[in-house]
Amino acid sequence: MVAQHTTETVSRVDGTDGVSRLVAKGVTVGYGGRTVIDDLDVAIPPGVITTIIGPNGCGKSTLLRTLTRLLKPAKGSVVLDGEDIVKLRTRDVAKKLGLLPQAPVAPEGLTVADLVARGRHPHQSWLRQWSSDDADVVERALAMTGVSELADRPVDSLSGGQRQRVWISMTLAQGTDLLLLDEPTTYLDLAHAIDVLDLVDDLHEAGCTVVMVLHDLNLAARYSDNLIVMRDGSILEQGHPRDVITPELLHRAFGLRAEVIDTPVGGGPLIVPIGRTHV
Ligand SMILES: Nc1ncnc2c1ncn2[C@@H]1O[C@H](COP(=O)(O)OP(=O)(O)OP(=O)(O)O)[C@@H](O)[C@H]1O
Ligand SMILES: [Mg+2]
Repeated sequence: MVAQHTTETVSRVDGTDGVSRLVAKGVTVGYGGRTVIDDLDVAIPPGVITTIIGPNGCGKSTLLRTLTRLLKPAKGSVVLDGEDIVKLRTRDVAKKLGLLPQAPVAPEGLTVADLVARGRHPHQSWLRQWSSDDADVVERALAMTGVSELADRPVDSLSGGQRQRVWISMTLAQGTDLLLLDEPTTYLDLAHAIDVLDLVDDLHEAGCTVVMVLHDLNLAARYSDNLIVMRDGSILEQGHPRDVITPELLHRAFGLRAEVIDTPVGGGPLIVPIGRTHV
């Protein structure tokens, strides 16, 4: 269920709503002087799965990068747990949130086990060296994404789908309860995509807050409590899939003709696209 904002929580001095752990306020951001997102406000509700949908190039990854401090906004700010994210140390951000980037690249020859172990780096220091607890977390993260048997393989020798699951595994090894996943199902066949989304759902059941980007609108509707619909760097709509997914919205966001029916499994909207050749 999406968190309700109550009146006594809206006026906190840090400018957040007092409920969301991650908030963007008046954010303007782009690349090399070209603005992609202009004056955008968004609050990520805690403990639910939020999915960002929108056409290619509309700014979904740019928003995710801004929310995770990989991109610094020209104007506005991002507040993580009540603190301006640019004032936090990289290590402290990495202990609070895990990001799966859209197209991550592993160093040549690095093995799966070594890559996933890197997820534990934020937890280490000269005071706290690699421990058996870290090894356990890595082993669990490998098992959760079904890649334990690939542990000794170089990441660059894997198929696209295997590699994708390894990167998810590394993000999980960070052990954060705030996860931002940019297209976690890219390269995955439908069965593996469902496995990954079921895993995301398990993490959500265990208390994690998840923000992901998906292109499959039906999976987005099925697995999310909250949809953010973007177009041209702006948010068109935000809310429960049941309320947001309409033929009108799909046309406004994607220029897509579609019917929306009830799914026969589990309830919720099912999008049936209408191509030029369909009558
Ligand atoms: N590193 C970059 N340098 C310059 N422009 C960029 C960079 N990354 C993205 N852009 C531009 O910013 C705009 C938004 O890109 P972004 O990657 O956020 O889109 P997206 O919604 O994630 O698209 P997709 O669905 O294709 O992943 C696009 O016009 C893109 O060309
Ligand atoms: Mg993207």
